[in-house]
Amino acid sequence: MRSNQPQTIYLSDYKVPAYLVDHVDLRFELFEHGARVHSILTVRRNPQSDDVGAPLVLDGDRLVLESLALNGTPLDGDQYEDRGDQLVIADVPEQFQLSVVTWIEPQNNTRLEGLYKSSGMFCTQCEAEGFRCITFFPDRPDVMARFRTRIEADRSAYPVLLSNGNDIDRGDLPDGRHFVTWEDPFPKPCYLFALVAGDLVEKRDSFRTRSGRDIDLRMYVEPRNADKCAHALDSLKRAMRWDEEVYGREYDLDIFMIVAVDDFNMGAMENKGLNIFNSSCVLASQDTATDAAYQRIEAIVAHEYFHNWSGNRVTCRDWFQLSLKEGFTVFRDSQFSADMGSATVKRIEDVTLLRTAQFAEDAGPMAHPVRPSSYIEISNFYTLTIYEKGAEVVRMLHNLLGPELFRKGSDLYFERHDGQAVTTDDFVRAMEDASGRDLSQFRLWYEQAGTPVLTVRDEFDADRGVYRLTVEQTLPDTPGQTDKKPHHIPFALGLLDRRGQPLPLRLADDDTEAPTERMLELTERAHTFEFHGLAECPVPSLLRNFSAPVRLNYPWTREQLLFLMSHDPDGFNRWDAGQRLAVDVIQSLVGAPRDTQVEPRLVTAYRHLICDASLDQALVAKMLQLPSEAYLIELADEADVPAIHQARERVLKHLAISLRDELVACYRRNAQDSAYDLSPLAIARRSLRNTALAWLLAINDEEGRALAVRQFRDADNMTDRIGALRALVNSDYEDDRNQALASFYQRYQDDPQVVEQWFSVQAASDRAGQLPQIRALLTHPAFDWKNPNKVRAVVGAFAGQNLAAFHQVDGSGYDFLAEQVCRLDDSNPQIAARLVTPLTRWRKFAPAYRERMRAALERIRDKPSLSRDVYEVVHKSLAG
Ligand code: BES
Ligand code: ZN
Repeated sequence: MRSNQPQTIYLSDYKVPAYLVDHVDLRFELFEHGARVHSILTVRRNPQSDDVGAPLVLDGDRLVLESLALNGTPLDGDQYEDRGDQLVIADVPEQFQLSVVTWIEPQNNTRLEGLYKSSGMFCTQCEAEGFRCITFFPDRPDVMARFRTRIEADRSAYPVLLSNGNDIDRGDLPDGRHFVTWEDPFPKPCYLFALVAGDLVEKRDSFRTRSGRDIDLRMYVEPRNADKCAHALDSLKRAMRWDEEVYGREYDLDIFMIVAVDDFNMGAMENKGLNIFNSSCVLASQDTATDAAYQRIEAIVAHEYFHNWSGNRVTCRDWFQLSLKEGFTVFRDSQFSADMGSATVKRIEDVTLLRTAQFAEDAGPMAHPVRPSSYIEISNFYTLTIYEKGAEVVRMLHNLLGPELFRKGSDLYFERHDGQAVTTDDFVRAMEDASGRDLSQFRLWYEQAGTPVLTVRDEFDADRGVYRLTVEQTLPDTPGQTDKKPHHIPFALGLLDRRGQPLPLRLADDDTEAPTERMLELTERAHTFEFHGLAECPVPSLLRNFSAPVRLNYPWTREQLLFLMSHDPDGFNRWDAGQRLAVDVIQSLVGAPRDTQVEPRLVTAYRHLICDASLDQALVAKMLQLPSEAYLIELADEADVPAIHQARERVLKHLAISLRDELVACYRRNAQDSAYDLSPLAIARRSLRNTALAWLLAINDEEGRALAVRQFRDADNMTDRIGALRALVNSDYEDDRNQALASFYQRYQDDPQVVEQWFSVQAASDRAGQLPQIRALLTHPAFDWKNPNKVRAVVGAFAGQNLAAFHQVDGSGYDFLAEQVCRLDDSNPQIAARLVTPLTRWRKFAPAYRERMRAALERIRDKPSLSRDVYEVVHKSLAG
């Protein structure tokens, strides 16, 4: 492993490829002891490249080169140079065929990049740079080729052989082997290549496109999962229909395949015509998947499907442009989810993730722009900034242009760039050209890191009836970036009168037909807006629906927040007002004397939410969730985690004690009264019930305990069963906790996806997930270091969700994490690097914690032979 000073890659060094590959002919011989890969590349010099005498440079990683021939003539050792990670052939003609044979060992591949084995099947993961672990190739997304792939394997062990495109040939071979040949008619970058070989069952479905073509939909899973495919296939059909209706995008091949694999670094992958999924992101049954899992599956199936246009047909020029496909596709999948369920709830969930995790990333040592300008290891750049902030940037374009012009822009983008590898700038230009708007300042969102801060002040001139609003924007410094320019920000707002009625927003005296909501545009460091014709001082409803990814400061009074919580016509802002109020109340109790009063109006407001059944129950279910510890830490200057934890617990318990009877009534009112279904209302009711249960158990309520035990036993779905389990696990009823955990494991021990949930309920619990218990989980027979989901379920959940247990003042939690990172770094560097994340935030914490976090990072830094992945994260975290 390259441990000394890995190289930094710069966007400014981008050069078009010197050679293009038009066609790739692959033949895989798969065996138990390894695989032989025969590749024939049809190569020509790139007419766009001015690097005329350039050698042919192919990437390769851990490959054994068996043979190499140019136009059929074997090359001698002095005609090429094998540099370990590159194969260089100095002297090549204008056009030629290169034949390469490599030997690889998928059975020993624990990094899960390239070709590897997962529970007995062969599968691939090539994004971002995994194809170079399969064969020598120019592994960069601007080299697009047509692929033909022949797979040969033992027929009985691997009856199913899959790759991209259409199957054009199949047959038997000697020694009980067989082959299938696939051809993909669309040129694609090698990161979209995929291969699967295994003993899988096939579930079929079909979809008729709006132009009348019938698409074969096929899902492949291990036989034991045959009854968990319906939801993914239904989600896929909904996504296909939606993309036709909303974006005018139709599917282009005759077959669309989905495969589920247990060992997978990410959630899922959009390989052309052959999407590969982490089992936990695609398999579902009523008995094994929670509502959240059902929704996640629908979103991920859609996301990967949407990539067929935003990513595959139009792809990225280089990996600095990653957000071109990921940000846009996350925006598309979030619009889809909003349309399939409750749009307000979806927005709340997206913003919660953004504000809790992306804002933290943007304020820390790993902060980078949506289009980074350098990286060491690209796998580290599949970040919340690229994904979530990238999606917010596209959403802002949607806000600025409106739905019609935005659609015109996306049509132009897809038509103009079909079959090309392009940049985020090409995307913005298409939006610009279609709308006629100047987006030059808007482009700064791709270049400047850090979360803008908006500070709003207001005053009311009663004599003139004018309400004046001043909005100032500032941009924090981030690593390598200071003195930033102001952003172009869409700022949605409304004004309410004292009865909660929306007021017309008259920007001038004579503005008669004024709307009650406006999308203002901020482009300067400070703006002042005047609203005319007002009889009283209004209450402002600012940044509606979170119209831009910014921090918003306004001196709300608790009175105003209570008012907005019940009156704002914007559902998102109603929720946001509640969150701001709860944050204010909790913050005022951090480190305060024990007898400090909890704001009584918070109790009144929550009582109203719990009892008024006429309110939108999906919104209420969200409003009842107190701000998370992670969010409170993000908002703090020098976070004292135990103090934050205690203050939050105090508020939760105070609410539960004050509203005890209402919670029991709420629980009973929301009892399941009909067959299980996944409508937003049914999901909201389960959420309300489980919140009520959790709160009752937090105060050791005996009736709550009985309800939880009964629900755990009688539940007909996983949401309720695990909701009851979680409530019991987080309670003081130790016997009930242990019994429930044991019986749950007994029941589901053969289902890896449920066992993962069982691990994470414990690892995230401050009762069941203290360090000694976490160590015990790591030695549990069902734990497996080779399976990323298990590692995430225990180590990731402990460090990322069980914050009071992780942040021990003696640093034991940090040392534990450092130990696990070092251990994983040798087998799976991508997962190891991701696990470091909680430590990268070390500067956020109170001094005693901070120093010990830094010490843990230094311990990782000093490990011999550190991977490039962990090297980058640790060194950048310690820098500055
Ligand atoms: N292209 C990614 C998967 C990927 C990421 C592969 C990084 C290799 C390296 C895929 O489209 C994706 O974004 N998946 C997400 C889920 C999605 C719903 C945001 C994931 O895997 O978490
Ligand atoms: Zn994606």
